[in-house]
Amino acid sequence: MTRALAAVVIPAVLVLVAGCRLVGPGQPGFPWDYRGFALVTTRTDLDPTVPHPGVLVVLANDEGVEGVRRAGPHDPGSVLVAVGYEGVRRADADDTAVTIGERRTVWTMRRVAAPRGDDSGWRFGAHAGETLKRLPADGCAGCHARAVETDHVFSRWAE
Ligand code: HEC
Repeated sequence: MTRALAAVVIPAVLVLVAGCRLVGPGQPGFPWDYRGFALVTTRTDLDPTVPHPGVLVVLANDEGVEGVRRAGPHDPGSVLVAVGYEGVRRADADDTAVTIGERRTVWTMRRVAAPRGDDSGWRFGAHAGETLKRLPADGCAGCHARAVETDHVFSRWAE
């Protein structure tokens, strides 16, 4: 590489690398291994206006389990997954019985770093249950920030 070329290319690469570090890794991808995660808790709410409607199954990898059990802080590498299933009323039972239907949405929180400034260190992602297509994940961090006492995680470990 000539000196002139190096003078342009090397700073450009440095800026790119620094930029990536500032922005941090993006949204988590689909958590393919979540079926091997531990069960944290479940919750059923058939009101369609709640943030995670239907039957919600919350799971965590080993690091995530440790964080939830101590109610935060969570170590980098922690992954929490909330799987939203349609809540189906059972016609053959009394009308309070609800079973799980189709998988509607898979929500993911991945801890990538310790919190710094306004950045909680969590990355949020959402995927459609059937097509696994990525869904917008804009409002997640703002609402989860309300759970500040438990490091942005609402669910508690169910014994
Ligand atoms: C308006 C508030 C709100 C918004 C917006 C929201 N959540 Fe949640 N989330 C909750 C609450 C509350 C729970 C606990 C379960 C419940 O009661 O619904 C939860 C649970 C979760 C969990 C299980 C871990 C935990 O904190 O309990 C994950 C993972 C999750 N949400 C991811 C997401 C993602 C990804 C988005 C954005 C696409 C999102 N959430 C948007 C309120 C919200």
